[in-house]
Amino acid sequence: MNKLRVGLLFGGRSGEHEVSISSARAIAKALSAEQNASKYEILPFYIQQNGNWLAGEVPQKVLESGIPYLEAQTSTLGLWQSPPQVTAVDVWFPILHGPNGEDGTIQGLLTLMQVPFVGSGVLGSAMGMDKIAMKTAFEQAGLPQVKYQALTRAQVWSNPCVFPKLCDEIEANLGYPCFVKPANLGSSVGIAKVRSRQELEAALDNAASYDRRLIVEAGVVAREVECAVLGNEQTKASIVGEITFDSDFYDYETKYTAGRADLLIPASIPDAISRQIQDMALQAFTAVDAAGLARVDFFYVEATGEVLINEINTLPGFTATSMYPQLWAYSGIPFSELVDRLIQLALERHSVNNPKS
Ligand SMILES: Nc1ncnc2c1ncn2[C@@H]1O[C@H](COP(=O)(O)OP(=O)(O)O)[C@@H](O)[C@H]1O
Ligand SMILES: [Mg+2]
Repeated sequence: MNKLRVGLLFGGRSGEHEVSISSARAIAKALSAEQNASKYEILPFYIQQNGNWLAGEVPQKVLESGIPYLEAQTSTLGLWQSPPQVTAVDVWFPILHGPNGEDGTIQGLLTLMQVPFVGSGVLGSAMGMDKIAMKTAFEQAGLPQVKYQALTRAQVWSNPCVFPKLCDEIEANLGYPCFVKPANLGSSVGIAKVRSRQELEAALDNAASYDRRLIVEAGVVAREVECAVLGNEQTKASIVGEITFDSDFYDYETKYTAGRADLLIPASIPDAISRQIQDMALQAFTAVDAAGLARVDFFYVEATGEVLINEINTLPGFTATSMYPQLWAYSGIPFSELVDRLIQLALERHSVNNPKS
């Protein structure tokens, strides 16, 4: 039997470059283990931090060492070229997190290549990345979420007479504490929890330096619970897990410093709440037109019993210890079977999207 050649695409231009390398290492290991080894051959493609694509030996080395390859980063800047090996790929497995990877850009390129790929297409990826677009879709689907206000950089950096009015409006609508966020980033970068006018002004200015689109949300006191979704048209929701940490909120440092946060699977919440979360996760998946996989994150306000949707991640962290694969492992789908299923879902979706090819 001819093996299916899987183009494992990792690294990338976002701040989550190193997480992507860890995810790719775990996936590569799973694809070369057990029954997968007889079905799949891995062709690794590494995207350097500057956007340069490398095939062949370098990606292999990065996968083995887990260390980013920093050399030769200037050679093709502005002259993007794909390595010739891309034509050998039967199915792509992009495991890139954040902008330029999880946001529909790579998905657009792979769609143009007319080769199947794991995960959401252009629309689902873009909707899942942009917090304003995502919230609009959730609202349309009737999913409860925190009160929020969408803003643009132009509003924040407008003339000094307009800015105070904008802050007045936010204070009146959302109050304190509130969360100021760039709309398209991830990993909590540029996010601030603010408790005063002074902090609000500084946070808006800072978030505007990251993105043209911003969002401010009312802060809630809640437990943070997450649910994994797998499938295309027929979707399944996993057991619900919880993230616990001792910092003020789940910020960048807490996310990426070992030992600062814990995953609790299953979350110790009432069964009825779990079922509600699973149901909402499936609705959210459909609302943004996600495909293949997504992790959907929620706030469980224990004091009132309310469940609010926070966000959907269409290419969630996929290291051996990440929430997404762990949730499936606890739900009966081990890591190696999970990657196999994701590739099969990519093939299935490609044939549904291209019935005549
Ligand atoms: N409205 C909110 N109320 C309370 N905590 C929040 C709110 N928004 C964000 N947070 C905290 O900030 C973290 C990061 O926010 P999130 O919107 O999930 O950004 P990212 O996409 O970068 O993960 C959350 O996990 C949570 O701890
Ligand atoms: Mg988050």
